[in-house]
Amino acid sequence: MIKIVLVTDENNIIGHSNLGDYFERASQWSKDKVAEIDKIFAGDNMVVGRTTLPLCSSYIPKYDDFYVLTQSPDKYSETNCDVTFTSDYMKLVEKYQDSKNTLIVGGGKATWEIFLPYAKEFIICLTYDESMGDIVFDDWTKLNTVLTKEEEWNGGKTQYYQVD
Ligand SMILES: NC(=O)c1ccc[n+]([C@@H]2O[C@H](COP(=O)([O-])OP(=O)(O)OC[C@H]3O[C@@H](n4cnc5c(N)ncnc54)[C@H](OP(=O)(O)O)[C@@H]3O)[C@@H](O)[C@H]2O)c1
Repeated sequence: MIKIVLVTDENNIIGHSNLGDYFERASQWSKDKVAEIDKIFAGDNMVVGRTTLPLCSSYIPKYDDFYVLTQSPDKYSETNCDVTFTSDYMKLVEKYQDSKNTLIVGGGKATWEIFLPYAKEFIICLTYDESMGDIVFDDWTKLNTVLTKEEEWNGGKTQYYQVD
């Protein structure tokens, strides 16, 4: 199954175009927000875009396979042996779409856009702070989805959707 997981706010902001101070900003996140992020991004396998990869080093060992989308897999393959660089996202779709093994699509915006038509489930972590950045991603709000579960936590709520 392909599952899109994202952290956003009430304005559908998902990140900063300036990734330079990402870790400084992340260090300000509350314990509750960090715990919620750890929980919702858990799964068998992960795919992220190459832009998002530098933010993921502590997460890579948690997955069976960790894929990174790039148009130049040969160029990047030797830079990080712990992940699989690929340009062939349809191969991942074919492998996981009808599988019991989960492929978490962990972002960012370009990567979610690519996998959006193939996802069966969406987990949306909505934070009440408005310090998410300047990149908007709201395509998922236009899909026919059914809210199956909603969990409040200190600083936000997490919504679970299935594609209708
Ligand atoms: N809020 C959240 O939950 C969350 C989660 C993750 C990331 N983010 C945020 O998302 C932002 C980054 O998003 P982004 O959209 O700029 O980047 P991204 O999706 O992380 O990565 C984009 C890269 O993916 C590769 N790519 C894109 N389309 C492709 C295709 N059709 N075929 C092959 N490769 C393809 C390209 O790599 P090459 O240039 O190497 O070809 C492209 O530069 C950051 O601000 C990050 O913090 C937020």
